[in-house]
Amino acid sequence: MANDVDTVVFEVKDRIAWVRFNRPDKRNAMSPTLNRAMMDVLDELEFRDDVGVLVLTGEGSAWTAGMDLKEYFRETEALGLKGTRKAQRESYGWWRRLRWYQKPTIAMVNGWCFGGGYGPLFACDLAFCADEAKFGLSEINWGILPGGGATKVAVELLPFRKAMYHAMLGEPIDGKTAADWGLVNESLPLADLEARVTSVAKVLLEKNPVALKATKDAVRRVGIMTYDEAEDYLVRAQEAANSYDNDGRKEGIRQFIDEKSYKPGLGAYDKSRRG
Ligand code: ACO
Repeated sequence: MANDVDTVVFEVKDRIAWVRFNRPDKRNAMSPTLNRAMMDVLDELEFRDDVGVLVLTGEGSAWTAGMDLKEYFRETEALGLKGTRKAQRESYGWWRRLRWYQKPTIAMVNGWCFGGGYGPLFACDLAFCADEAKFGLSEINWGILPGGGATKVAVELLPFRKAMYHAMLGEPIDGKTAADWGLVNESLPLADLEARVTSVAKVLLEKNPVALKATKDAVRRVGIMTYDEAEDYLVRAQEAANSYDNDGRKEGIRQFIDEKSYKPGLGAYDKSRRG
């Protein structure tokens, strides 16, 4: 039972939830136990008032070395199709949950990120990594295709030739290359990573949270829409957001036009005040 809890740990500090893969001895490989624990942690944090941003990182030298080849593949396969499907539901389930999470999310990739790790990598809205990190679609190296959404992530984030090379060659790339290719927003020395992620999280904490959720969903949704569909979706998404916060944008206009206390082109309005 202790293991169930310990495979994922978190702390909430200054409205940032720092969630950690916590199997450093196994390079944070995602076992069914870890997958269940992560869903529990995401559940617990999603609607807490004292959480404004979630950061997902790893304990030790890995972010995550992907699926646990022994516990996720071999041991569940031994239980037959039922075992395989259950394990898939549990892992894909928390990645999906994270893709549509209520709060903004940031992947802070501190080290190894392989295979199944691309699921949570893509699920996070933003991603920052250490120059020292290594990313790879290593599936081909042990004889399978990049499943569990990993091929889709590569195609979503990389140009065709790079996606094909990455998937077929199974060569790891370093953090700087991952940033050049667009797998992450930025790569910087490991020693500077947490400070940079903290500063990005603090900027997000200043924004209107209803607008942030509408924005992150919109960016994920419109990709497969025609222009007209997207135009319509965005009108309706804003109108739906208004049902949760109908005053925020009016206050944003007021502080700029009437009060002249900030410039929207340069930063966010003060959401703690209502005129
Ligand atoms: N599944 C199960 N166990 C793992 C995994 C994994 N994905 N990754 C690491 N481990 C275990 C190792 O078996 C080892 O266990 P042991 O101490 O009981 O022998 C322990 O973690 C440490 O691993 P090392 O290989 O000794 O660590 P090292 O730092 O030298 O190398 C590296 C790290 C490169 C990440 C290496 O462990 C590795 O290649 N792991 C597999 C990466 C991978 O291909 N993952 C699967 C992707 S495909 C998918 O997710 C569907």
